[in-house]
Amino acid sequence: MTKTKLIAGNWKMNGMPDDSVRRTEQILSFVKSHKQALGDKATVLLCPPATLLPLLHPLVKNSPVFLGGQDCHPQTSGAFTGDISAEMLKNAGCSSVIVGHSERRAGHGESDELVAQKAAAVHRTGMTAVICVGETAEQRAKGLAEKTVRSQIAASLPVDTLYADNTVIAYEPVWAIGSGETATREDVETMHGFIRDFLRKKFPALSEAQLLYGGSVKGANAKQILEYENVDGVLVGGASLNATEFCKIIEAAL
Ligand code: PGA
Repeated sequence: MTKTKLIAGNWKMNGMPDDSVRRTEQILSFVKSHKQALGDKATVLLCPPATLLPLLHPLVKNSPVFLGGQDCHPQTSGAFTGDISAEMLKNAGCSSVIVGHSERRAGHGESDELVAQKAAAVHRTGMTAVICVGETAEQRAKGLAEKTVRSQIAASLPVDTLYADNTVIAYEPVWAIGSGETATREDVETMHGFIRDFLRKKFPALSEAQLLYGGSVKGANAKQILEYENVDGVLVGGASLNATEFCKIIEAAL
């Protein structure tokens, strides 16, 4: 049986109420009009900035479009200025949270250990953690791509709270994010095969977890990427900000 593909849009720090409502309504109307075709072939997840969640949640509630957060703090509440907890995101209507995105790892110095704590917080609330990993161009050039991803996975997974349905791994080579340069079929299949084997050996609960590819996914390349072996969905940044383009990516999964 083929697995349900996850089509996730990461809006990053983009979106004001008007454009975000318009974008969400367009995506929702596409998804509703393709409900039959979508069936259990694809799930759609939108990860807007947290400020937009209360506005967007009433629009997508009880629909096949789900909401996710882009990051969370390991603690439930407390004196952590600027942070947001998994409980708050869940309360605002999220079903998933992205953790360990390379922009957080690089821009905020997040370690694998912190990512694991964040993922455990996501699990604590019953949501799904989308845990991101991926090598830099320099690591790949040195032949360290697999080693990097293996050590990120080994240390970013919260061992005590994992099971296949609450954890998604997103492989996002840093050099492919926002660069317009997509990893080749060989790059993706080799890495996803490697991740699958590693999970089977070291994290048997995640043997069948969904593996996403992210990095310059767009309407024109989504169909091809979704057909690669061990690719169970895509995590889309730039192209998720354009509803027409994002709908093409959803359509590619049908
Ligand atoms: P991109 O971003 O699609 O703009 O390359 C992907 C991501 O950062 O998740």
